[in-house]
Amino acid sequence: MKFFIDTANLDQIREANELGVLDGVTTNPSLMAKEGIKGVVNQRKHYLQICEIVHGDVSAEVISTDFGEMVKEGEELASLHSNIVVKVPCIEDGIKAIKYFSERGIRTNCTLVFSVGQALLAAKAGATYVSPFVGRLDDIASDGIELVRKIVEMYTYYEYETQVLAASIRNTQHIIQCVEAGADVATCPLAAIKGLLKHPLTDSGLATFLADYKRVNG
Ligand code: G3P
Repeated sequence: MKFFIDTANLDQIREANELGVLDGVTTNPSLMAKEGIKGVVNQRKHYLQICEIVHGDVSAEVISTDFGEMVKEGEELASLHSNIVVKVPCIEDGIKAIKYFSERGIRTNCTLVFSVGQALLAAKAGATYVSPFVGRLDDIASDGIELVRKIVEMYTYYEYETQVLAASIRNTQHIIQCVEAGADVATCPLAAIKGLLKHPLTDSGLATFLADYKRVNG
């Protein structure tokens, strides 16, 4: 399974990349705003900085909701760097834009997906990735992981090439559940990725190794 980090914070992207297990980055307008990135020029500069850190797909989201403007914005984003994936919300004009982009070889990430039906439209439009939001479904007592599983099952049955990019991941257990559900990608906070490292038996076992070595070798 591929790991993307879900942030626009350059320090966190660098730290995740230095782990050696990072395959890409996803951003969204809220994550960009959180970093105080203001204006188109600064946004484009920031995306390029991310592309220089991580040699993998970087999702950059359009802010337009109108087909014509989405196309214009998405083509401009895609022209920034070969690793840029144009992120488009799963709305009517977004599906039309994804179809337009897929017919022209521009890779896309269909985002804000909360149902099998939305994921079906994203795949039929030729999206490169579909982003079901696991955490936000869990937040309303719905089953986000079950949605991931159903999308994987549907895409496998119909042999769609769209990759399932599990998003809105809240914790390490979500990552494990995405593995079990067969997601192609999980885009995660850094803490959730680092949480995979943690096990008390590893810590206690290493402490014993070191103590035994020190006891004999000084
Ligand atoms: O960036 C897309 C998605 O991962 C954001 O999810 O719920 O953490 O805002 P959330």
